[in-house]
Amino acid sequence: MKNSSAPITKYRKDYQPSNFLISETHLTFILNEQETLVKSRLLLRRNPKADLEAKSIQFDGENLTLQSILWNGEALSADEYKVTDEGLELTKVADEFELVTVCKILPQDNSSLEGLYKSGDKFCTQCEAEGFRKITYYLDRPDVLSRFYVRIEADKSRYPLLLSNGNPVASGDMDDNRHFVEWQDPFLKPCYLFALVAGDLDLLEDQFITKSGRTVKLQLYVDKGKLDQSDFAMQSLINAMKWDEQRFNLEYDLDLYMIVAVSDFNMGAMENKGLNIFNTKYVLANPQTATDQDFEGIESVIGHEYFHNWTGNRVTCRDWFQLSLKEGLTVFRDQVFTEDMRSKAVKRIDDVKVIRSHQFAEDAGPLAHPIRPDEYIEMNNFYTVTVYNKGAEIIRMIHTLLGEQAFQRGMALYFERHDGQAVTCDDFVSAMADASDIDLSQFKHWYSQAGTPQVSINYQYHKDEGRMTLIVKQSNQHPSSKQPFLIPLKLGLVGRSGKPQSFSLEKQDNKVTETLIHITDSSQVIELYKVDESSVPSLFRDFSAPVKFDVNYTHDDLAFLFAYDENTFTRWDAGQQLMEQCIVSGNDALMSNIAEAFKQILNDSTLDNAFKARALVIPDLKTLFESHSSKGVDFLIERRRSLKDFLAKSLEQDWLKQYQSLHQLSDKSLDQDSIARRSIKNLALSYLVCASDEHAELLKQQFSQAQLMTEEISALSIAAHEQVRPAQSMLDDFYKKWHQEPLVMDKWLSVQSTIDSDNVFEVIERLKQDPVFSLKNPNKVRSLYSAFAGLNFAQFHRKDGKGYRLIADTVFELDSINAQIAANLSKQFSGAAKLDKQRQKQVAAELKKIKNKPNLSKDVFEVVSKTLE
Ligand code: ARG
Ligand code: ZN
Repeated sequence: MKNSSAPITKYRKDYQPSNFLISETHLTFILNEQETLVKSRLLLRRNPKADLEAKSIQFDGENLTLQSILWNGEALSADEYKVTDEGLELTKVADEFELVTVCKILPQDNSSLEGLYKSGDKFCTQCEAEGFRKITYYLDRPDVLSRFYVRIEADKSRYPLLLSNGNPVASGDMDDNRHFVEWQDPFLKPCYLFALVAGDLDLLEDQFITKSGRTVKLQLYVDKGKLDQSDFAMQSLINAMKWDEQRFNLEYDLDLYMIVAVSDFNMGAMENKGLNIFNTKYVLANPQTATDQDFEGIESVIGHEYFHNWTGNRVTCRDWFQLSLKEGLTVFRDQVFTEDMRSKAVKRIDDVKVIRSHQFAEDAGPLAHPIRPDEYIEMNNFYTVTVYNKGAEIIRMIHTLLGEQAFQRGMALYFERHDGQAVTCDDFVSAMADASDIDLSQFKHWYSQAGTPQVSINYQYHKDEGRMTLIVKQSNQHPSSKQPFLIPLKLGLVGRSGKPQSFSLEKQDNKVTETLIHITDSSQVIELYKVDESSVPSLFRDFSAPVKFDVNYTHDDLAFLFAYDENTFTRWDAGQQLMEQCIVSGNDALMSNIAEAFKQILNDSTLDNAFKARALVIPDLKTLFESHSSKGVDFLIERRRSLKDFLAKSLEQDWLKQYQSLHQLSDKSLDQDSIARRSIKNLALSYLVCASDEHAELLKQQFSQAQLMTEEISALSIAAHEQVRPAQSMLDDFYKKWHQEPLVMDKWLSVQSTIDSDNVFEVIERLKQDPVFSLKNPNKVRSLYSAFAGLNFAQFHRKDGKGYRLIADTVFELDSINAQIAANLSKQFSGAAKLDKQRQKQVAAELKKIKNKPNLSKDVFEVVSKTLE
């Protein structure tokens, strides 16, 4: 982008089909250390469904040096094409023609990690969303589907492996110790799904037999020496393939599935057809290097990328405004995969936490957008928790409204209609509506309106009539949200005995213990009949809609639900609400009630440990601040601290008992029970150490004897965060032991950057200079700086503005290295409007400095200017 021209906003309403299509794409890559040549031969034809009179074509291209160009084999005159900063304009066209270009690119200097670049000593690519234009001139848009033929040439010793999409069809030696491999992908695909890898890697191989009996070869490529961290990812892939056949009736469609792990990667992973490229974080793991949570993350991302093969690749997006078509749906699929592989109820709680702490904040801030955005400057800025996670909630609501069977009919119809096409969110919803008898027209507001609906519910029990009335009101602050939403409300009643209380919806109906109500109006009354005893309504069970809700519950109601609700989500949520009220009200008496409830749950041996480990966690500051910013940063920090202290000290003996009874370092199993035991045990340890330094001895022991990373890092991070004396020597020991494992060092960095201590700034400055750190590596930036801004609430929001300055300076420095990561980091300021005036001023001053940077990327420009508005 030229700094002279203002960045251009693109609008969804401006969509036009491409005037030309690309029947065949033939690419030859001549890879070298100094420069890479990309020869492209495109067979173009007019799009019968677009402007048949079009007299020119605009090809996208960035940072390319055009070496030669041929039109149907002949040279073009200077007035027949024009090279600009954004691409190549061709003013000579025909109904069908061939265009050959040769471009020079410099992958070794490409620190944006988009297009073709080098990670360590291998070449790799990342093309979504608009990275292919950094490889060659092309129609870089998802609705142009082409057949790809790829030839890769490189030095044979350095790059024995040359990979691309589809199947290898030829290979051979060349002069000068070089060789080539040719690949063909039988499926039409948009260029964002193109991939290339060249390097020298270790290989783990396996196979999968599909339900129709085809054998698929599975290949997992990792850096040399990392095979001992590869088994779990392979097993996850096999599980994902099996699960998608069983639950969605979807089978893999090529003979080969490859995954390559690279350490320099902007996101989690990428679903390139037949050749996924992954961040090492989501591949490499063994119990010594990775935590229980890391394993779950790997399983879900491996699943996610695999599931994209149908929801994303076979059916793709018409334009990038439709991103949630594939991402919301695929996140939903990966969430359900994890629910089926692990615990459904617990996974739901974990997913809701992400919505409440991150997505609600995004929806309430300057970067709020509908799951299907209407405009963007830089598409990379829209790979958001709204498009992904709220998008998944929207799909989940469709699933809730239709039920599993009708939902699966809708999926089948969607594929029947659209296999091989690039389509829109509307197409998806139509398939779902047509396959069921549910009218989804009002439901579609979820696609076009931003902001989080606020639902207020007032319940009242009329004893003499055995009737419960719920008055439900919905509202939404966001200016785009003028129409009421269709909100599925799943509810039940908990009777005074703690047992489910049945009810009926009409006076004559049979009784049920749970129901799904469609909230459609801004104000609506629900009557429940035949309610025999005074009961407490349990509302939004399983978090049936991504809304904020408040109910006229008393503290006793909440404590009651926390003790008895049969629905795991609402039970957990009641505890969270109780703690939230205790924190924001300043009501100290409530602390004892909470401690009492904690004690009961802690000592209830019938309860799942995984549930306990979530129920006994105090809501984090980000979540608290999101709903209660008016209380002020300092008040919330202080109140949360005293609640934690109180729960730690008043239950000290219970925590200790819990810790001692569950502490079995010999248990190295990764099954659900063992994971759950470790999580409640380590939570107990953190309360214990908070209660008294005396328990630091337990920490040291656990740390030095640990055989699992979960045990080791839990002890380390508790020591560091509770700031007990042995912390520094533990950090040093950990470094000595692990400094050669980059993924483990990521943990070491973030443990330190999230310590709530005044000297964290010196620590971060020192860590920035450490050889394990590099600003060029996104995992490192996330571990040190995003962790600081996102998780070290107190220090990031320091009164003196030091926290804001640290992040702003980093964004500034990072902008010229990797704009995408810089823009991501700059989103940490998007909550500024909720801060007090003094802090707002400090943030604004930092943002203005960034905005004035010469040659500021459009990525950061978009975030910063919207935040300043
Ligand atoms: N499609 C990838 C995934 O969700 C992520 C691509 C992200 N791209 C980006 N430019 N941020 O699996
Ligand atoms: Zn995805």
